Amino acid sequence: MPKQQIKQILALQDFEMPVEVSGWVRNRRGSKNVAFVHLNDGSCQKNIQIVVDAAHIQEDLIKKISIGACIKVSGTLVASQGSEQDREILATRLIILGESDPEKYPLQAKAHSMEFLRENAHLRTRTATFGAIFRVRHALGFAVHQYFNEQGFYYWQSPIITASDAEGAGETFRVTTLDLNKLPKTDDNRIDYKEDFFGREANLTVSGQLEAELGALGLGLVYTFGPTFRAENSNTSRHLSEFWMIEPEMAFYEAKDNQDLAENFLRYLIKYALDNCKDDLGFLDQRFAKEEQQKKKEEQSEMGLLEKLRFVVENDFERLTYTEAIDILLDSKPHKKKKFKYPVAWGIDLQSEHERFLVEKHFKKPVILSDYPKEIKAFYMKQNDDGKTVRAMDVLFPGIGEIIGGSQREENLEKLKQKTDELGLTEELWWYLDTRRFGTAPHSGFGLGFERLVQFVTGLSNIRDVIPFPRAPLSADF
Ligand code: 4AD
Ligand code: MG
Repeated sequence: MPKQQIKQILALQDFEMPVEVSGWVRNRRGSKNVAFVHLNDGSCQKNIQIVVDAAHIQEDLIKKISIGACIKVSGTLVASQGSEQDREILATRLIILGESDPEKYPLQAKAHSMEFLRENAHLRTRTATFGAIFRVRHALGFAVHQYFNEQGFYYWQSPIITASDAEGAGETFRVTTLDLNKLPKTDDNRIDYKEDFFGREANLTVSGQLEAELGALGLGLVYTFGPTFRAENSNTSRHLSEFWMIEPEMAFYEAKDNQDLAENFLRYLIKYALDNCKDDLGFLDQRFAKEEQQKKKEEQSEMGLLEKLRFVVENDFERLTYTEAIDILLDSKPHKKKKFKYPVAWGIDLQSEHERFLVEKHFKKPVILSDYPKEIKAFYMKQNDDGKTVRAMDVLFPGIGEIIGGSQREENLEKLKQKTDELGLTEELWWYLDTRRFGTAPHSGFGLGFERLVQFVTGLSNIRDVIPFPRAPLSADF
């Protein structure tokens, strides 16, 4: 018999037929003679009920069906008399694939705290909540590839080990094979990286952008989808040390084209989840509502999860410049009443409280901010004629803050080289500058933080709960 997933059995139209399933016991009720087992194999949100009775199955086997155990069942699919399900499997053969001591199994048939589940990340995928999150994560990842394929983009691999720090924030993890207890030294007593594996300093990439630009300036439209690493010491609910980023890079796109693509892309991904993850999002919607009820009135979200997702799909994002945003903030109640923790003035790097005010209080919708002061943005961004700002864009989402960062790129060799000279990067980035030296072209791109997107779509408040094994300062278990 071909292997059947519970998802498939739940979709069957005809009853009274033989079926076979394997899965983990979520719950069991009943006596030693008859057990009602809720079985889940990860294929979908719903469990299937298995009826195991002593007329067909040995009692000592029935005894071993405990929460957490893994079983394989053959039997007949029949209509159920219970009110909670329309069908169940009447077991005629049962194999215990893996026993589980119910006293010791960490996951009980009750709600556990998210902290507890994070400490048990090796088992949390067996819960209803994490099953839903990771299925939605999968769907969004699949939709990323489908979207770009439909739009004529090529999937491009930027290296994970690099010698450059694309964002220039100095938050890289070093890659080395040197013996840290016996470091080779140069004559002037510095570490001699010539002796290291690559013969130079190397690190894990913070962004695949610079190499994606090389791809775009030959293939036209490319995107990366890979892990990126940042050693920033921020223990927040929106930061990970290892996260996945999607970075499209497009030749002949200017700033507005970049904004249009970012908006269209995000709406497509969210719509894909709404259309393809109905059960899981329905479950997460209820979970979200319960969580919101625990919060203070003024902190509760005005919309439910599904409502919020539909709203983003159906409404245009608000677009304005950084300068316009600063004016709004200066004119805002929290600024005038000194309620913001950080000061507001032209030139500041917007803090999360400022971004949240704009998105959640002022516009009440996603916002695209553009044309930031050049001092607070990366060297590769195209300079505006005003001499003060660059063609940056950030997309800000309710409850998340920045979900996308990007820009039109500086394609003028002189202007770019002036920047790399200032930063002492000209020699190291000779290959990057070469693309401006030979056949330069206007081009743009952006980076979407995949976990922030999954966070938004699943309504989870902590980013560590939307990646299977989160990496954060002082935390690299599993
Ligand atoms: O704004 P960032 O730093 O932009 C770049 O890296 C550009 N090179 C992208 C490009 O233009 N190709 O990061 C992009 C996005 C952020 O908007 C955020 O969603 C996410 O990556 N991000 C993080 N997500 C989780 N944990 C972190 N520590 C993150 N840092 C950035
Ligand atoms: Mg950014």
